[in-house]
Amino acid sequence: MSQTSAPASEVDEHASFIKTPQQLIVVVLLAFLVPIFGIALVLQMVVGGHHAEPESLSPEAVSARIQPVGRVEVVDANAPRVLRSGEEIVKITCSACHAAGVAGAPKIGDKAAWGQHAKEGLDHLLQSAIKGKGAMPPRGGLPDLSDLELARAIVYMANQSGMNLKEPAASADGTIASAAAAKPEGKKRK
Ligand code: HEC
Repeated sequence: MSQTSAPASEVDEHASFIKTPQQLIVVVLLAFLVPIFGIALVLQMVVGGHHAEPESLSPEAVSARIQPVGRVEVVDANAPRVLRSGEEIVKITCSACHAAGVAGAPKIGDKAAWGQHAKEGLDHLLQSAIKGKGAMPPRGGLPDLSDLELARAIVYMANQSGMNLKEPAASADGTIASAAAAKPEGKKRK
């Protein structure tokens, strides 16, 4: 009898490591929790995956990466646009020449040079900036600059150079409100 019962209990012990009700509860709980934890991890990877490098996956970054090497820019004068400040425009374009006074450009901060140019009035400065003057290309080489943006850039540079010009007011459509804006400056013409 003892010979048959002994191997039987051995077989039982090796068949399962669950011997007590507590162990069974632990195993059943783990059987639920482990897959749920795993699914949560995978979900987090899938849903939260794009947080890894948010900048590199933004629409702007992606379109910048896949944009063609050369492109033609069609400027639609009627398109709604975000107007940039004078300081911004000067930074991206005008300072290329006006920061160091390249090719005889009136240098930002050079009171005498700007005084010489500004005495003609903002309106006049704007007209020559629109058309281009001497070594300066039309609109400082940035054809999509609006007149208002150009005027703001001129006012910014002049005022950095000891002038006291006033930015022309913007009308609702983002253009210079009226000729009246430039008139006070225009009066200074001789
Ligand atoms: C490629 C170089 C260059 C860039 C870029 C440039 N300028 Fe000039 N700018 C010049 C030069 C050179 C002159 C002097 C022209 C002259 O008197 O012959 C000048 C003169 C001017 C004048 C005085 C015009 C006058 O009638 O007295 C204004 C105003 C002006 N620039 C505004 C701007 C603005 C605003 C920008 C940016 C949107 C800009 N410039 C970008 C080279 C540049």
